[in-house]
Amino acid sequence: MKDLISLHDLTANEVQDLLNLGLKLKKELKSGIPHPILKGKTLGMIFTKSSTRTRVSFEVGMTQLGGYPLFLSSNDIQLGRGETIHDTAKVLERYLDGIMIRTYAHSDVLELAEEADIPVINALTDLLHPCQVLADLMTAYEHKGKLKGLKLAYIGDGNNMAHSLMYGCAKVGMDCAIATPANYRCDAEVTANAKEDFKASGAVLTLTEDPEEAIQNADVVYTDTWVSMGQEAEKAERQKIFMPYQVNKELFAKADSEAIFMHCLPAYRGFEVTEDVIDGKQSVIFDEAENRLHAQKAVMATLMG
Ligand code: CP
Ligand code: NVA
Repeated sequence: MKDLISLHDLTANEVQDLLNLGLKLKKELKSGIPHPILKGKTLGMIFTKSSTRTRVSFEVGMTQLGGYPLFLSSNDIQLGRGETIHDTAKVLERYLDGIMIRTYAHSDVLELAEEADIPVINALTDLLHPCQVLADLMTAYEHKGKLKGLKLAYIGDGNNMAHSLMYGCAKVGMDCAIATPANYRCDAEVTANAKEDFKASGAVLTLTEDPEEAIQNADVVYTDTWVSMGQEAEKAERQKIFMPYQVNKELFAKADSEAIFMHCLPAYRGFEVTEDVIDGKQSVIFDEAENRLHAQKAVMATLMG
C-alpha cells in the first residue's frame, strides 16, 4: 500500500488492519500513552476545497504522531496558478514525507500519486471520500460490536460518500442499500467495481430509487448533503428533486429500531435530514467526526511510518 486513493484498491485485510490500528491509537490517546510514530516527518496538506473536519483532524493527528502538518491552500501555492501536477509532485517529494490532497477532479489525485514517490492520501474528490468511510466503519463497529452482517442504508445523492460507502461496506462484509433519484445514481464505473467487491465478500448491494425499500432492516442509516462542493449552481433544483429522500422521523422509524444515524457533515437540517433525527438519541455524527482523527492517524502511520 503506497497511497490511500480508494478503498476499492485495498484488500479486506488492509481495511481491517487500518480499523484495528485506529482503535488502538484511540485507546492509547485516551490513556495518555504517546505514540510518536512519525517523529520528524512532514505531511503536506493541499486543499482546493473548504474543510473543517479534514483539515483539523489531519493537522492534530500528524502532531499527535510527532510529525509536522503543513497546510497548503491552493490559493497560495503555484498549483492554483497553473503549475502542473507533475512538477508539483516532483518538487514536493523532495521536501515532504507524504501528501494529503482534497480537490475536485479524481484524476488529479491519481496523477499526483503516480508522479510522486511519497504516499498520497485522498482527503476527498468529486468521486470518493475514503478517509471519511474508514472513520464511519470504526464508528459503526464501536456502536454495534461488529461490521460483518450489518446493513447500511444510504439515502440521497449518488455522490462521493455513496461511492466510498459502497466500497467500504463491501470490504467489511456489510450489506449496503443505496436509494437515489433516477438521475442522481452512483457513477457507473464505481458501481461496477463495487459489485465485484460485493460478490467477493458475499455481502449484498441493493440499488433502488425507493428510500423505504433501502431503509428496511437497516442497522446504519446514512445521508449526506444534496449539494456537494462544486454543485452550488444546482442548489434550488436539487433541493426540489431530493425532498422525497429526506431522512425524517417517519422514514427513520422504518429502519431497525436500534439503528444508528450517520452523516459525514457538514449537514443541512431541514433538507437531507430533520433535526429530530440528526440531533436525536440514535445519531452518532460527532463520534464519526472524532474518529476521523483516529482513523487518519492509522492511515498516516501505515503509509508514512
Ligand atoms: N466530513 C468532512 O470531510 O468534513 P470537512 O469538509 O469539514 O472536512
Ligand atoms: N458530498 C460532500 C461531502 C462533504 C464532506 C461534498 O463533496 O461536498
